[in-house]
Amino acid sequence: QKVSVIGVPMDLGQKRRGVDMGPSAMRYAGLIEEIQSLDFEVEDYGDIYINRPGSSKEDGLRNLEEVIKASEELCRKVCEIEAEQSFPLILGGDHSISIGSIAGISQRHHNLGVIWYDAHPDLNTEETSPSGNIHGMPLAVNLGIGHSRLTEIGGIVPKVKPENIVIIGARSIDEGERELIKEQGIKVFTMHEIDRIGMTKVIEETIEHFAGRTDGVHLSFDLDGIDPLDAPGVGTPVLGGISYRESHLALEMLAESQLITSAEFVEINPILDNKNQTADVAVALVSSLLGKKLL
Ligand code: ARG
Ligand code: MN
Ligand code: MN
Ligand code: MN
Repeated sequence: QKVSVIGVPMDLGQKRRGVDMGPSAMRYAGLIEEIQSLDFEVEDYGDIYINRPGSSKEDGLRNLEEVIKASEELCRKVCEIEAEQSFPLILGGDHSISIGSIAGISQRHHNLGVIWYDAHPDLNTEETSPSGNIHGMPLAVNLGIGHSRLTEIGGIVPKVKPENIVIIGARSIDEGERELIKEQGIKVFTMHEIDRIGMTKVIEETIEHFAGRTDGVHLSFDLDGIDPLDAPGVGTPVLGGISYRESHLALEMLAESQLITSAEFVEINPILDNKNQTADVAVALVSSLLGKKLL
C-alpha cells in the first residue's frame, strides 16, 4: 500500500508563530524513513505554499483570506492523493488545515467518519470564538457551521455528519462549543471518560460507533491532546491530558481495526519544544497507526 505525505506549513489559524515548522520537525524526526521501514511505498508531495501577509481580521476571523487560499490548495492536493487510492498523511501546521484536508477527503468519502483527538473540540464559530483564531473552528466548519466562505470550500456542505464524529481527549471546552455538542449530539470522550473507563474501552466503543456505518474514517490528531509533559511543543497546552502510552495503545488498536483511511498530525510547534520531542512523539505515533508492532 501507498502513503502520500503532504506538509502544510500553516500558522495563520492562530497568533503564535512556529507551528509552520511542524512539517520540517516531523521530517527531521525521520517520518519518511520510518514509514518506508514499515514496507509502505511513500510519495512525498513536499509542502504547499502559504502566503504570509500582515495579520488581518475580517468578519472576526484572523487571516481569513489566506486560510481560504491554503485550504483550497490543500483540498486539491488531497483530492489527487485520494484519486490514486493512496493513504493521505497530512502534516500541520495549526488545526485550521483540517478544513482543507477534510474538504479533499470528503470528495470521495461521502459518509466519512472523523476521530478528533484533541484537548479542544474546535467547534467555535466566528460568533462564539473567544479568540478569532480559525484553528479553534475547523470541526464546526466541517459540520457546515460557521463562515460560509469556509464551509463552502470543496463544494460539499456539510462534509461530515454529527453522528459520524467522535472526539477523544477534550478538556478545554468553551461555552458555545458545549452548546453545539449538545445540540448536535456529538459523541465525546472527555478526559473524565478516559480516566473512568480507560483508553481500551474508549477505542473499542469508538470502533463500534463507526463499524459498518461509514465509508472511511479520518484521524485528526492534535498533539495537544497528549499531556504537555509528553508533548510540550504545542501552542495551546492543557494540563491533564492523554499519556504517551495511552496514545500508542489507541493508535495500535485503530491500526488493528483497519478503520482509518486518512490522517493528519497538527499543532506541533518546535520553537516551544524540548529537543524536537513532540515531533518524535508524532512520528512514533504515525508508525503505530500504520501497524508497527513491538514484537
Ligand atoms: N477554544 C480556543 C479557541 O477557540 C482554543 C482552540 C485551540 N485549538 C487548537 N487547534 N489547538 O481559540
Ligand atoms: Mn480514500
Ligand atoms: Mn485542535
Ligand atoms: Mn487542541
